[in-house]
Amino acid sequence: MMYSRITGTGSYLPEKILTNHDLERMVDTSDEWIRTRTGITQRHIAADSEMASDLALHASRAAMDAAGVTAEDIGLIIVATTTPDVIFPSTACILQDKLGVKDCPAFDVQAVCSGFIYALATADLFIRAGKYRAALVVGTEIYSRILDWTDRATCVLFGDGAGAVVLTPSDQPGILSSHLHADGSHSKILAVPGSICGGKVQGKPFLTMEGNTVFKFAVKVLEEVVHEAVAENALQVSDIDWLIPHQANIRIILSTAKKLGIPMEKVIATLDSHGNTSAASIPLALDTAVRDGRIQSGQYVLLEGVGGGFTWGAVLLRW
Ligand code: UT7
Repeated sequence: MMYSRITGTGSYLPEKILTNHDLERMVDTSDEWIRTRTGITQRHIAADSEMASDLALHASRAAMDAAGVTAEDIGLIIVATTTPDVIFPSTACILQDKLGVKDCPAFDVQAVCSGFIYALATADLFIRAGKYRAALVVGTEIYSRILDWTDRATCVLFGDGAGAVVLTPSDQPGILSSHLHADGSHSKILAVPGSICGGKVQGKPFLTMEGNTVFKFAVKVLEEVVHEAVAENALQVSDIDWLIPHQANIRIILSTAKKLGIPMEKVIATLDSHGNTSAASIPLALDTAVRDGRIQSGQYVLLEGVGGGFTWGAVLLRW
């Protein structure tokens, strides 16, 4: 049986840091409100000259170095992003060119904050099918460009960044299972409802969110999908060594962990210093925990995401 394994991780955060105290000078908010309601103390903001593909390039190079692969080895590139460089070509194609990778399939996945889970699940199927020697899977976002910086309810929550992994074939797991869901009937509770038509922006081009509704939905589905993943693999929730949830709000993470009976010592949380980086949040948190040595060979790691669409999903793997 063929599996895919993550053999390298990488991440990148733009240099500029925006603290809660900086935000106090921009909107009617406080460091205390942001920290107690969300767990965030700072976020990174991309420079004007940086695009999502630039952030992705740094993260990808780090992941490829860690995996010991070169541009010639990469057979597939999937980029999860909600904030592509341009409408087209895809950020994956732009990244392919910047990496110097020749002639491989490259495409974007748009599943908002669940995007990395969708992209990883897709790449896993290609690798298991024996199609490629290595796949590059990236989450990259510049949410600072789609925020209304006068709306305190949303602008304090998000940040910019990128995370990447290299997947390679293996006869040992690896990714054990993936679980993807969507329910488009909830599309309006989290959206950037604008579009471009005839050279003009139609509708609102900024992120809008019904915070409370999103919060409740997130806790519900993040719990459900963990049960789904462990049941399919005849495991118990207590077998999970590391839970890496989408980093949106520490209260969502705490509630989910509590409902599942998972102690916070087994949960990777990076949102205090990253904010919510949407499709980049899970690979950023994964890379942090791999590089600081928390994640060790043989451990069960469960990645789970939830976001606009509504979309949600999980990938269970053995490290
Ligand atoms: O990536 C996936 C998508 N995103 C999420 O998962 C986010 C999900 N939602 C949340 O994390 C939370 O709902 C928020 C952090 C967005 C909001 O927290 P909350 O505890 O649900 O607060 P709330 O929306 O009920 O607002 C409470 C109060 C309101 O004032 P009043 O009406 O009680 O007087 C807001 O106007 O807090 C006020 N408020 C703020 N005050 C200071 C909202 N934003 C701010 C702010 N600073 N930045």
